[in-house]
Amino acid sequence: MADQPDESSKRRVAARALAFVEDGMRLGLGTGSTAQHFVELLAERVRGGLDVVGVPTSERTRLQAESLGIRLATLDDLPELDLTVDGADEFDPELRLIKGGGGALLREKIVASASARMIVIADSSKRVARLGGFPLPVEVNAFGLASTRRKVERAGEAAGARGSVSLRHGPDGSPYLTDGGHLILDCRFDPIPDPEALAERLVAIPGVVEHGLFIGLASAVVTDGDAGTLVVER
Ligand code: 5RP
Repeated sequence: MADQPDESSKRRVAARALAFVEDGMRLGLGTGSTAQHFVELLAERVRGGLDVVGVPTSERTRLQAESLGIRLATLDDLPELDLTVDGADEFDPELRLIKGGGGALLREKIVASASARMIVIADSSKRVARLGGFPLPVEVNAFGLASTRRKVERAGEAAGARGSVSLRHGPDGSPYLTDGGHLILDCRFDPIPDPEALAERLVAIPGVVEHGLFIGLASAVVTDGDAGTLVVER
């Protein structure tokens, strides 16, 4: 896996993404440490008079945005959004992503797919030739966990991605629960030779709620390079 980025790289890419935000926009607000920088910077612009409304992708982001005075709505209020800005755990040259390191993949995918554009903010440590160095999060229903886990392992094998599948735990040692009350299986499928084939197999498993492969959703990735931030378009 790549080196850990410093906070300044995350803040730089978050700041660059502000250029995509226009007055009056309906915005999906991502989750994670990079998205947290974006929400902070967005709040500064809102205090300066920018008028936007945000739909958060997690309770964590909702609390942050609310405390900073960003006007919020739900997807039920606003079923279509102009733009989502969110982080990622990995992105490849085709702008396919692994997301869900922060456990918010289900809401993140629902919000991204309701948005006309998704801008991903990801420092250069997230850039990979092939997805899979970061364990793929798969959100599952607690019912039938052992059976679903076996099916997830087999889906990996059938898609040429062999590896171990483990249940995510929280800091207190109990199983990690998502905002939707589901569990997460972290799949060490390194590499994932055919993300589309794996995604297709995972969604066909009844106990799988959603998986962290985001394919065809990112319009662009804002990342950093030797000469500063750059925007990689699809
Ligand atoms: C949360 C996510 C995050 O966007 C992803 O984990 C990246 O987080 P960070 O910016 O902290 O590296 O998908 O579910």
